[in-house]
Amino acid sequence: MCGIVGYTGVNNALPFLLNGLEKLEYRGYDSAGVYVHTDDNRDVLVKEKGRVKDLEKKVKEYDMQGKSGIAHTRWATHGQPSIENAHPHVSADGRYYLVHNGVIENYKQLKADYLSDVEFKSQTDTEVAVQLVGKFASQGLDTLAAFRKMINLLDDNSSYAFLLMDTKQPDLLYTAKTKSPLLIGISETGNVVASDAPAALDLTKDFIELRDGEIAVVSKNDVQLYDAEGNNYTRQPFHLDIDPTAADKGAYPFFMLKEIDEQAIVTRTLIEHYFVNGLPHINEKIIQAIKQSDRLYIVAAGTSYHAGLIGRRFFEKWAGIPTETHIASEFAYDRPIISKKPFFIFISQSGETADSIQVLDFVQKESYPSLTISNVMNSTLTRESDFALPILAGPEIAVASTKAYTAQIMTQVILAAAIAGGHSELQEELSRLAIDLQAEIDGKEKIKQIADKYLVNANRTFYIGRGADADSTLEAALKLKEISYTLVEGFAAGELKHGTISLIEQATPVIGLISQSKMAGLTRSNLEETMARGAKAVTIVTKNLATKDDDIILPALTGEMEMFGPILEAIPIQLLAYYTSLGRNLDVDHPRNLAKSVTVQ
Ligand code: F6R
Repeated sequence: MCGIVGYTGVNNALPFLLNGLEKLEYRGYDSAGVYVHTDDNRDVLVKEKGRVKDLEKKVKEYDMQGKSGIAHTRWATHGQPSIENAHPHVSADGRYYLVHNGVIENYKQLKADYLSDVEFKSQTDTEVAVQLVGKFASQGLDTLAAFRKMINLLDDNSSYAFLLMDTKQPDLLYTAKTKSPLLIGISETGNVVASDAPAALDLTKDFIELRDGEIAVVSKNDVQLYDAEGNNYTRQPFHLDIDPTAADKGAYPFFMLKEIDEQAIVTRTLIEHYFVNGLPHINEKIIQAIKQSDRLYIVAAGTSYHAGLIGRRFFEKWAGIPTETHIASEFAYDRPIISKKPFFIFISQSGETADSIQVLDFVQKESYPSLTISNVMNSTLTRESDFALPILAGPEIAVASTKAYTAQIMTQVILAAAIAGGHSELQEELSRLAIDLQAEIDGKEKIKQIADKYLVNANRTFYIGRGADADSTLEAALKLKEISYTLVEGFAAGELKHGTISLIEQATPVIGLISQSKMAGLTRSNLEETMARGAKAVTIVTKNLATKDDDIILPALTGEMEMFGPILEAIPIQLLAYYTSLGRNLDVDHPRNLAKSVTVQ
């Protein structure tokens, strides 16, 4: 995890670097740091525990006027959050400053083999990297050679995006990546290196891609690339067509609320993008590759995994292809028997989740075909799988995923319909869904009342449902627990009596999701069982299955449309989580210990 940004140019580096860190804060936010080489030739390093705003306060005490620098926002992997462990790290002789995103798996071995005489200032794996560069340079290597030598010592399990500055050449940024994202932004007034494009968008939308294993040396008007053997070349930039204002909170108190509210618009964007003459339209090569397979393997993590559970039903029922959904971190090391002609579908908002990338590595080695469904089309997963489909949700900044989840489900729905070669009604059904989602969003006050009354003060909550609603309970539970810091479990309603019911106490909230007519009565019976033991049952029910006593009534879904139940349920489950977190006075957008993009395994 972690976000890194660097600048070398004609302007003052510090404002750009701090602004970049704010944009990258979704990648981690337990400490932050910045190094600037000043115009009067000083090396100023400032680090602070906590959020980027804490660092911003601290830098005010320093004179940091200078035209190059690097900065970092951290999500701790090795070493607790502290000023010492915050980046940039410095070589023992003070010559090199370095920031890192990733994990150096063999750092202990490297420390023992090469650095037994060096006094370390932090507990991080990263400090080993900068100390190695310092050591190799002191033995006579130039900076590029020392940097390369250090990188070549990292084992295959390591991941890195590095940004290095040499105080003897302060106008240069040395950078390299493997398995961690990195982009080089190009502009007339200077060049920038960053973990993600939003950190650079104030300066440029033109980027040079850096590939795994390459090193780049970036000056204010030039970018030189080197491969592992030291061969030198350049690469044409590409233009990234994204709207920088899309990542602004506007009048919203939190990004999460803004992103929940955007789900009807995202639905319309998907319709516009994926339908031609009223029919779902997906690149024919993707359709043919999937049709030739005998089984689909959906691989994802967290919320994206939950979206994959729901997508599975559409691939099986509409496209008639047996489909399994797997947790990426499990699949990577504990695989099931794989069919003769598998097709892999990766689902990832960020496209950078290390657990999923690890599975893609395996898929590539076996030459299995693959598709990534993602919100970030220039990400590692989209670039490296055979095919990619965008979910078009726009930047998702809140750590808890909302609009990406529904967009991931809908993209799978459209793909399944395209494989099935029909579903002439789908465009109309999705358009109706967009109207229904908007109606739910407009009715958020009711959800707030329920959250305030039943959830804000509860220490545990259960979500139950059957069929597609059971899948939905998993996402409902994840959303609520990750931002409310209360225990929440979601599971198939019939399982309740097999153990969990012993946890029900007076006023424990048990929320029933009910959109599947065949199983509605059964879920209601299970709710009754909890009420008999003191639970406060709350129902979220589609209108056609509702009674006057139900709590949250969703728009009606009948016939095959029932399969869309989880999409309609997404809005109340997200809003319940949002208002519970708000009611508990928590930082909705930045839950503790989390990061938006999980680039470590
Ligand atoms: C939860 C959440 C995470 C992500 C997971 C995978 O709200 O956002 O569970 O879904 O870390 O991330 P992506 O989708 O970027 O692969």
